[in-house]
Amino acid sequence: MWGAGGLIVMFVAAIGISAVMQAVQPPSHIETIDPATLADHPEFGDPQAHTTADGKVVVPVVAELFQFRPDPIEVPVNMPITFRITSGDVIHGFEIVGTNANAMAIPGYVSQFTLSFSRAGEYDIVCNEYCGLLHHGMVGKLIVRGEQP
Ligand code: CUA
Repeated sequence: MWGAGGLIVMFVAAIGISAVMQAVQPPSHIETIDPATLADHPEFGDPQAHTTADGKVVVPVVAELFQFRPDPIEVPVNMPITFRITSGDVIHGFEIVGTNANAMAIPGYVSQFTLSFSRAGEYDIVCNEYCGLLHHGMVGKLIVRGEQP
């Protein structure tokens, strides 16, 4: 019994530690959007990485059969980058390979997370939700620039 109790404590601790140390958390942000009018949307109609008035870097992303827009995405290194992701058609994934950035792109919703990149270079962005015949080819590029803006 003590052994089983110890295991339970260990498992709960593992969840707690990964949530705090590795930022593995369920989404806490609910924002809806009309996927039918995405083309005319001020943020997602022609999505571009931009810096807001208070100095934050925001990257709106539209995932659609079978690409990400914008592509490539360019952001500065060592700055918090807020990604805002939605889909124009079906459910896609948005995973930045080699980082813990991984979100679903769901039509009707905006998935948002913020992270910063400590290493400049090129990263692949892959779709990790099966979305159709060319799912395997749905790959985008993220370029993290070394110089500060
Ligand atoms: Cu988009 Cu798989």
